[in-house]
Amino acid sequence: MQNSKFIRALNLQENPIPPVWFMRQAGRYLPEYQKIRKNYSNFLDMCKQPKTCAELALQPIDRFSLDASILFSDILTIPDALNLGLAFHEGEGPKFSNPISSPQDIKKLITFDVNALGYVFKAVEETKNILPKDLPLIGFCGSPWTLAAYSIEGGGSKDFRKTKSFLENHPGELKEFLEILTNACYEYLRQQVLSGVNALQIFDSWADLLTDNHLDTFSLKYTRILTQLLKADPVTANIPIILFEKSPNKKIVDILFKEITCISLFWQEDIKSVAKDLKNKYAIQGNLNPKVLLGSDESIWNETQKIGSIMKEYPGFIFNLGHGITPDIDPDKVKTMIDALRQ
Ligand code: CP3
Repeated sequence: MQNSKFIRALNLQENPIPPVWFMRQAGRYLPEYQKIRKNYSNFLDMCKQPKTCAELALQPIDRFSLDASILFSDILTIPDALNLGLAFHEGEGPKFSNPISSPQDIKKLITFDVNALGYVFKAVEETKNILPKDLPLIGFCGSPWTLAAYSIEGGGSKDFRKTKSFLENHPGELKEFLEILTNACYEYLRQQVLSGVNALQIFDSWADLLTDNHLDTFSLKYTRILTQLLKADPVTANIPIILFEKSPNKKIVDILFKEITCISLFWQEDIKSVAKDLKNKYAIQGNLNPKVLLGSDESIWNETQKIGSIMKEYPGFIFNLGHGITPDIDPDKVKTMIDALRQ
């Protein structure tokens, strides 16, 4: 495992050809995913079937021979375990029937019980059982801030107006909620590691809602506490941590801290300039625009090789997209991208 390209990159060791995996590599763009997905009306019910999760995680590995696998689950399992009533209905994003609407809702939250997420840990075990022995498995969670935003908003939204107004009107109670989520994420990731994951990724998918000051106060502070808890725990101390910040209102160099191993760069970041700042300090993952996959084979080839050549001398580069693969992508285009990188 330590010699896998992905773990080598996380350890800042050189790889002649960079390791590659994709955010949302398992998902709706794959016909083999759709075949299983159509048996469930609520996506979350599918996430609660460990054997099915393992099968779904393996699909992109079988199809593309990727260098890392990611647990098949979702970041919203934690708010679901806090009884916020999560469902994913046909053609809609996530919806909470019991969102956090007032400070009282935080006061009367049930205590987080990591055992309520036993189905996720079983999914890790099942996935490890069927993955090639030396293929790393990535575990993950949402950042406390991103989980709070979904929990308060009650689902996805264009402007997250309720979340922003909660932050303005009840910053103290929001912080209490962020502490609860931080501890829940810690226990959740710890148990994923005990069940077999080899690396961890934290998704701060709603970092862009926050101004630079608020990004520190409401997001990075709690993500850092989470990583400090992980580093202080012998179970998780040596597990590499990847951080994804979506379009943050702050420079990447000013976001990073020593507990982080790797930054997963959003597609709007200039990888060349970030690489200059981070060389020999942090691994870098990313950051091709997922929309490149909608273009011609020639442009996919050119854009992929461009990043490959910028990062050629960078020890610790992991090829990936700058955000998840969308359902409108043709899997053959993904294959073209991988071929362009490995050629
Ligand atoms: O290969 C993988 O990455 C699979 C595991 C995975 C999923 N979600 C499965 C999923 C991972 C790592 C996630 C993370 C996740 N979930 C994030 C962070 C990454 C990011 O995109 O910024 C976020 C914000 C979520 C929350 C979420 N889950 C939303 C908003 C939605 C609905 C809209 C959408 O993007 O599909 C989901 C559903 C979801 N999670 C699907 C999958 C495969 C699609 C569900 C379906 O088939 O209907």
